[in-house]
Amino acid sequence: LKILNWLISFLQKLKKSLSNGIDELVYMKYVIEFGERDDDIYVSTFMKSGTTWMQMILYQLTTDGEISFNHIYEISPWLRNLASRKGVIPKDLPSPRIIKMHDAYEKVPKDKPGRFIYVIRDGIDVSNSLWHHRRNYVTHKLSFSENFDTSFVENGSMNWFHFNAEWLMNKNKHKVLYVRYEDLKNDFDKEINRISAFIGITLTPEILQRTKERASFSFMKQHETKFGEQPPEEKFDRVYDQFIRSGNVGEGFEKISTEELKVYCQKMKEILPVSPLLFDYFKKANVELSNRT
Ligand code: PPS
Repeated sequence: LKILNWLISFLQKLKKSLSNGIDELVYMKYVIEFGERDDDIYVSTFMKSGTTWMQMILYQLTTDGEISFNHIYEISPWLRNLASRKGVIPKDLPSPRIIKMHDAYEKVPKDKPGRFIYVIRDGIDVSNSLWHHRRNYVTHKLSFSENFDTSFVENGSMNWFHFNAEWLMNKNKHKVLYVRYEDLKNDFDKEINRISAFIGITLTPEILQRTKERASFSFMKQHETKFGEQPPEEKFDRVYDQFIRSGNVGEGFEKISTEELKVYCQKMKEILPVSPLLFDYFKKANVELSNRT
């Protein structure tokens, strides 16, 4: 029985790494087929940091903003996800193309053309949003703590701290504009001006107004089926109505335990670089921790 268990576990690991390897090859093929352009704009994020919001903002800024698409991936694809889900790559999208990406920094080739808009969000809210997402899409029974440990803190190069540290340090000097989720909420106009300057478009009052309306939480919530992550085909009978979920700042603090908060503060200090983008996150977490202890 011991040998049998060992064999099963070995073959399961082998199956997983083979499947990952195949996905990686399909992804490479998709990148070649889709091509790369100098004016491509990647929306690059750690999961649940405001990716879809930024995709919609950019779509509004760079097109007539019509929302006749069935799903945002038709006009702003996520190639890696299509590769693992056997999707169809949208052909001949006009420049500048808006491409979603959740890749660890080291996965992005040094000479990859294009620009990157990196959206960063308070980690405690990210952890909370990710927990809701995984409960909705993956397993209903998942607790906040299980998700915090496995997907947020211990997840290799995909843990929140390491992931952000590499993107913030940007050692290969990609063209990156950093945008904080909270700044978008607090001063949308200012952030839209920065984004427009970065992608080289002239922001008219009409475009700004339309972007404000159509990238608003309420508008996107109203059209949720166009944005929500697509579940695997066999689960299409399930209702996924929690993708545009609450969009709040600070909600994660209601869920995180004091022990987890300690780990969070410690990891921030150990792994993340000194950056003004992070000051508020450090401050909020440390104030909360000292209030609790
Ligand atoms: S994903 O699955 O990683 O691509 O998710 P992502 O799009 O990065 O993040 C989802 C969270 O963003 C919130 N969201 C918004 N907030 C404010 N305004 C708008 N328009 C908006 N659209 C999406 C969404 O509700 C998720 O956050 P939570 O905290 O779960 O509500």
